[in-house]
Amino acid sequence: MLVLHGPNLNRLGTREPEVYGNATLAEIDRELGRVGAELGAAIDSRQTNHEGELVDWIQGARGAFDAILINPGAYTHTSIALRDAVVAAGVPSVEVHLSNPASREAFRHASHLEGVVRGRVAGFGAESYVLALRGIVAVLKERR
Ligand code: DQA
Repeated sequence: MLVLHGPNLNRLGTREPEVYGNATLAEIDRELGRVGAELGAAIDSRQTNHEGELVDWIQGARGAFDAILINPGAYTHTSIALRDAVVAAGVPSVEVHLSNPASREAFRHASHLEGVVRGRVAGFGAESYVLALRGIVAVLKERR
């Protein structure tokens, strides 16, 4: 399972805790590793502030990972490149958000990824990632 965290998510814990919660990215990744081990899914977690690096990682997922969990941060609302990469990867992807962008500023309401991902989880803080992991693992098991 490839887990991708986009821009500014390296600042979790100190960044707008009233919106994103108090958990740091390291804590979120540790919890994903723990739940992943329980579910039999190895987790490879990465963070970058750079759109092109996310594109490179998504491209590299084909043949290497069963699925992608991605919180694209603000690139959710701006990046057609990420959408194209997700389509081309041919790997089921889940869009994850700590907050619920639909209940926030209007510029966060549109997602370029929503139409090309297997599912979306938003609004549950750090738990969004765990729910997304459980959801996609269940889907993958059903496919086998
Ligand atoms: C976010 C929501 C985005 O609108 C925002 O730009 C982020 C974080 C979330 O996880 O709630 O950086 O993706």
